[in-house]
Amino acid sequence: MRIVTSSRVMKERAEAARSAGRRIGFVPTMGALHAGHLSLVERARAGCDEVVLSVYVNPLQFGPREDYAAYPRDLAKDTALAREAGVSVLLAPAEGEIHLSGSRTFVEVTGLQDTLCGRSRPGHFRGVATVVARLFAIVRPHAAYFGEKDAQQLRIIRRMAQDLHLDIEIVGCPIVRDADGLALSSRNAYLGEAERRAAPVLHRALRAAADRAAAGETDAACLVDLVREKISAEPLARIDYVEAVDDDTLEPVASVRGRVLLAVAVHFRGARLIDNIVLGGPAS
Ligand code: PAJ
Repeated sequence: MRIVTSSRVMKERAEAARSAGRRIGFVPTMGALHAGHLSLVERARAGCDEVVLSVYVNPLQFGPREDYAAYPRDLAKDTALAREAGVSVLLAPAEGEIHLSGSRTFVEVTGLQDTLCGRSRPGHFRGVATVVARLFAIVRPHAAYFGEKDAQQLRIIRRMAQDLHLDIEIVGCPIVRDADGLALSSRNAYLGEAERRAAPVLHRALRAAADRAAAGETDAACLVDLVREKISAEPLARIDYVEAVDDDTLEPVASVRGRVLLAVAVHFRGARLIDNIVLGGPAS
């Protein structure tokens, strides 16, 4: 595995791979790697000749009162995990390699960026779309892999790739969970013992709503209420939002027809966790 810290070297490497006819798969991350990230690598390996994994905690996507400074960083451990997983290139950019000083160009995916997490984290998805666009320009992948765990992010990146004619296949991958149902996340490291025990309520609540929908309930408000009720029964949980939205447009729906994304964001003391389930589609 090659470790690359310079964007120039990364571009040269990408050019060489492209001229040799090799298909490049890209997995962007902010590090603190876990089995969720590694499932994306595995998927990328299956579809590509080489896999580039980036580890970059992107300051642009954190709000002023968010956890940029506290975000878990362990490059030595990430390097070992990436090597073991069969990554070809680990891109760990030095400061200033991605966001050039004085940059004036930013990417906004209007509409999609303003709902769900965008409402409680203004500017977040502008930061995400911008860094991913810059990483795409440096890594020049044929395909890029994103988790359904961050469902809104995946839909935003898919739309950006389409709107900007990027010719990059955006592949969505299922949510990887712990045995008790909690979706793996680097931010789970913030959970104390009691919060960690309480956190699987998110998935339980979403599953209960999916079961109710499978049994014929089509009223979105009723499903949202069920999720709210189950999560509110957990005293350590403070709901940010529970919403049922169209899976493509992310606009609120009144009834469940076609694919509906049921998404939640919940605070557990220091940690804000998100989870979701797609109704009327394959379960994850
Ligand atoms: P990060 O939170 O590190 O996640 C990197 C990728 O791993 C994302 O595509 C995310 O959806 C996926 N992922 C995280 N947990 C997962 C799980 N339990 N199951 C499946 N996939 C999972 O998302 C980001 O970083 C950043 O916003 C980034 C795209 C790198 C831009 O900075």
